[in-house]
Amino acid sequence: MKSDLPSIGFGTWKLENTADTAEIIRNALQAGYRLIDTASVYGNEEAIGSAIAEASRSGLWVSGKLWNEDRNRVEEACEKTIQNLKCDYLDLYLMHWPASKALHPDWAEINASVWARMESLVQAGIVRYIGVSNFNQTQLEALLPHCSVFPLVNQIELHPGWPQIELTEYCRRSGIAVQAWSPLRSGKLLRKKELISLAEHYGRTPAQIILRWCVQRGVIPIVKSTNPQRMRSNLDLDFSLSEADMNDLTSLSNLGWSGLDSETLTLFG
Ligand SMILES: NC(=O)c1ccc[n+]([C@@H]2O[C@H](COP(=O)([O-])OP(=O)(O)OC[C@H]3O[C@@H](n4cnc5c(N)ncnc54)[C@H](OP(=O)(O)O)[C@@H]3O)[C@@H](O)[C@H]2O)c1
Repeated sequence: MKSDLPSIGFGTWKLENTADTAEIIRNALQAGYRLIDTASVYGNEEAIGSAIAEASRSGLWVSGKLWNEDRNRVEEACEKTIQNLKCDYLDLYLMHWPASKALHPDWAEINASVWARMESLVQAGIVRYIGVSNFNQTQLEALLPHCSVFPLVNQIELHPGWPQIELTEYCRRSGIAVQAWSPLRSGKLLRKKELISLAEHYGRTPAQIILRWCVQRGVIPIVKSTNPQRMRSNLDLDFSLSEADMNDLTSLSNLGWSGLDSETLTLFG
């Protein structure tokens, strides 16, 4: 893993393109987040950009995502994102979803050609690192032989109940950092009795237990909160979970997941 890639990031999905969102990002930066995860499809880049424009860029990772409908206009989409986010460059730019086999018989060629155009963004100096999101092992195995710039990260759904053990191991072996999206399952995990009882045992919050489990596995959680106090407590992960509790959390089942399978996805194109 690149040493300056932050070990936790701040998520922005479902935040609106309003002054309130700019304030949320200001609060997140003040709380200490050093990676802001964005995506053009979230429709809120401009509001986020207002807060980023006021912040010191040093040590801050601004991360964007290429939406599926922009696969044929990678350069324009990236330039628009940079303009919206009021940056001169992006630190990280992710392919939001792979082309799925269900919709695209030539999915592997599409992903390789989008990647080649993303590599040209690095060569042009407007993006520092590129990565992928929602790629499974088959999709990575098809892409990696075509890469002259290797993906820095694969951002995937990952949380207790959906631990992604094999994919995480594959990424680790391939030198790709794993970022966990919806680490709290959009908040749904926080009411689960297993999490509440572990939180009581450690004198922590259920969110801290989950985020610590991610970090202790070497996974980078991308967590969202609109509340400054919860933003700060989600960064306070200076404790350890026992090996037994780590294993118990990893083997929890029946906690659900989004159901978004990148192999069969027909929803997003
Ligand atoms: N690559 C992809 O395809 C993809 C897909 C989905 C998401 N993502 C990224 O992953 C990020 C995180 O996922 P997410 O937005 O689904 O949510 P999440 O971080 O899993 O959960 C956020 C929810 O948990 C609540 N929460 C946060 N900390 C809390 C705490 N300490 N105590 C109690 N409640 C707490 C928040 O409420 P409050 O605001 O009230 O605190 C919010 O409702 C997204 O924002 C996005 O950047 C990427």
